[in-house]
Amino acid sequence: MENLSEGRWIAACTTDEVDDTFGTRVDIEGGDAIAIFRVNDAYYATADRCTHGNASLCEGIVEGKSIECPFHMGTFDVTTGKALTFPCVVNLATYPVSLNDGQILVRIDAPTTIPSLVKEKEL
Ligand code: FES
Repeated sequence: MENLSEGRWIAACTTDEVDDTFGTRVDIEGGDAIAIFRVNDAYYATADRCTHGNASLCEGIVEGKSIECPFHMGTFDVTTGKALTFPCVVNLATYPVSLNDGQILVRIDAPTTIPSLVKEKEL
């Protein structure tokens, strides 16, 4: 269980609003949208925007723990943010998630990104 007294947590959506096939996009006032995914009944939050281009990952298809970008079919692991297949080489930001009585809470001030083999500015 995450410590909800630290950081900026938002009520992103409810568990009923997330399925196994698509991410659920949540717009953040003053910030970039996030995507909520469900994998094996666990919930994950990542940046919604693909790191390769201006695509919403919530318009892609989830298969297992992989999301396929709708633009050029690159894929990411939604549980870690890791870029899995070309042309995606920069990992996605991920956010801490907590559940409270069917509500999905996301800490939006603490994104983490695992190091990528290629830095975004090098692309
Ligand atoms: S914009 Fe996502 S793979 Fe190109």
